Amino acid sequence: MKRIALLTSGGDCPGLNPCIRSVVRTAVSQGVEVVGVRRGWRGLLENDTVSLGLRDVAGIVHRGGTILHSSRCPEFHEAETRANAAETLAQLGVGGLVVLGGNGTLRGAWDLSRQMHLPVVGIPKTIDNDVGGSDYALGFDTAINTAVEAIDKIRDTATSHERLFFVEVMGRDRGILALHVAIACGAEGVLIPETATNYQDLLESLERARDAGKASSIVVVAEGDDAGNAYEIAREIEKRSDYEPRVSVLGYIQRGGSPSAQDRIAGGRFGKLAVDTLLAGEENRLVALRGGIVETINLERAWSETPRIDEEMHALTKVLSS
Ligand code: F6P
Repeated sequence: MKRIALLTSGGDCPGLNPCIRSVVRTAVSQGVEVVGVRRGWRGLLENDTVSLGLRDVAGIVHRGGTILHSSRCPEFHEAETRANAAETLAQLGVGGLVVLGGNGTLRGAWDLSRQMHLPVVGIPKTIDNDVGGSDYALGFDTAINTAVEAIDKIRDTATSHERLFFVEVMGRDRGILALHVAIACGAEGVLIPETATNYQDLLESLERARDAGKASSIVVVAEGDDAGNAYEIAREIEKRSDYEPRVSVLGYIQRGGSPSAQDRIAGGRFGKLAVDTLLAGEENRLVALRGGIVETINLERAWSETPRIDEEMHALTKVLSS
């Protein structure tokens, strides 16, 4: 294989640039050229590409976002669209493709690979950390740290005013980020899509904490919680109690910022294995972290498996918040 292509698609996250750098430097060190596709699948359809050499990826290891830019491209679910994308890659003389994506993007990568018999290797990335088969997706650690730093500040004002806060973090379908953030910032409660929200239970545990002498309470809410968003939940609690809760939605700051050391290292490891896998002639693989080891598994698992909430972690939030 003399030339490979690389793209980042879907919601961005910290850690993409260190991974791009690793893909390019691993490939170039083995005499392979790298074509960067700009703006994800959309860029592939529009032939928006750039050649990436060693110096093009210099000075980016500490930068958030993606130098290749990203987009969402629902049309990629259509077979005809994927055939056009494969045609572009063929014209570019590309023998394999590295895709950095969440479960939606990686499903597109799987479909493309199967339909057009193109070797594809996926790399998991999303602050939601909900790519099937891998313990880790790029961006997760940095997003936790960003949220915790913000909530530590909210704790200061919450304590001064003896208030209850609902803090919403990202997580459209899964509450893995919310759970980790809640543990790391000592939250009094966490509400996630995977478990049904019970207002009575929540109120009882908040009141118990207040009666035990806690000056403030923070409840971390995943944006996809079944009871609604943080504002709706706060309104309901206000109706049912004497609390006058405040709300903070952390939003897109969680997707930006300089990648943590963990995300830089994971980006380096994931990128190298993706290139090695393509050059070894393997296809339809997902680079995954499993039990501390970086390995490859069937790409299909990225979207066909649903990561489960770690029950031990969930139980821990309850014990630690008492
Ligand atoms: O996929 C990650 C994520 O951060 C979700 O938690 C969130 O709902 C979504 O991206 C928002 O993405 P966008 O507004 O960029 O489509």
